[in-house]
Amino acid sequence: MTDIKQALSWARERLKDACERPQFEAELLLAYHLDRERTYLLLHPDGVVPDKEGFEALIERRAAHQPYEYIVGEASFYDIHLHVEPGVLIPRPETELLIDKTVEIIKREGITQIAEIGVGSGAVSVVLARKFPNLKIIATDICEAPLKVAAVNIDRYGVGEQVTLRRCNLIDDVSEDIELVVSNPPYIADDCALEANVADHEPKEALFGGRVGDELLKRIITDVKARGIRWLACEMGYDQKAPIEAFVNEVGVQSVRFYKDLAGHDRGFVVDFGIEGK
Ligand SMILES: C[S@@+](CC[C@H](N)C(=O)[O-])C[C@H]1O[C@@H](n2cnc3c(N)ncnc32)[C@H](O)[C@@H]1O
Repeated sequence: MTDIKQALSWARERLKDACERPQFEAELLLAYHLDRERTYLLLHPDGVVPDKEGFEALIERRAAHQPYEYIVGEASFYDIHLHVEPGVLIPRPETELLIDKTVEIIKREGITQIAEIGVGSGAVSVVLARKFPNLKIIATDICEAPLKVAAVNIDRYGVGEQVTLRRCNLIDDVSEDIELVVSNPPYIADDCALEANVADHEPKEALFGGRVGDELLKRIITDVKARGIRWLACEMGYDQKAPIEAFVNEVGVQSVRFYKDLAGHDRGFVVDFGIEGK
């Protein structure tokens, strides 16, 4: 029979090469296994751990670098908890800034219809739909797995009337009158070396943007301008400001503003293409 103290000690040891905070992750996974809060473990060190093999299997998955969020099937993002599974990107905290930038424009301009390119888990579209109950969003993705997961999250938060999912490349099949496009597209260079928990487990289609990395971002800029859509808000890589700035100036825009993440790295931009004819 294994008690909580023994289980944690074994798990911490097993995880020490796989993650930065082995004690913390061991506690999180044991709390998940027991369907209890983490504090329960601290208050009941002698409590029995049922289904020891089941717990060990969870720890072995993490020891093999599988992301914690895939193991428990959940990720916290902004003010919601999203279902996630392999095949869909785990939403990142920096993408919360993309939402804040988009919210500013939607509010200021009174926007009611937008598109999201690359919906993934639905993180961006679900948060925006919850913030603006009158907002309509067409959310696209090129892959089937994210669209299925996004549908689960849209249903979980009851925003199905507002968010329409569509499988297509970029906004190719979006014929609606769109005022703004938001996107956190794949923007990593194909040959970039990533940590094992990302490279071996998260979908390549969500990470890699081409040989240089910014190819898809540039396609989005060109497509949005060609469609006569005024606003574009995108996340980008920390080293992509110079090429994107040069590109938007070449394409011709009314203004472009770059923003930084909380670590002080360049992280995204908002383009105003201006109103046609002005
Ligand atoms: C970095 S993930 C972003 C997911 C989610 N929006 C988020 O912020 O967590 C990029 C998403 O874009 C999708 N994608 C990649 N290429 C695409 C394309 N050409 N058109 C539409 N979606 C694409 C991927 O399948 C993936 O779900």
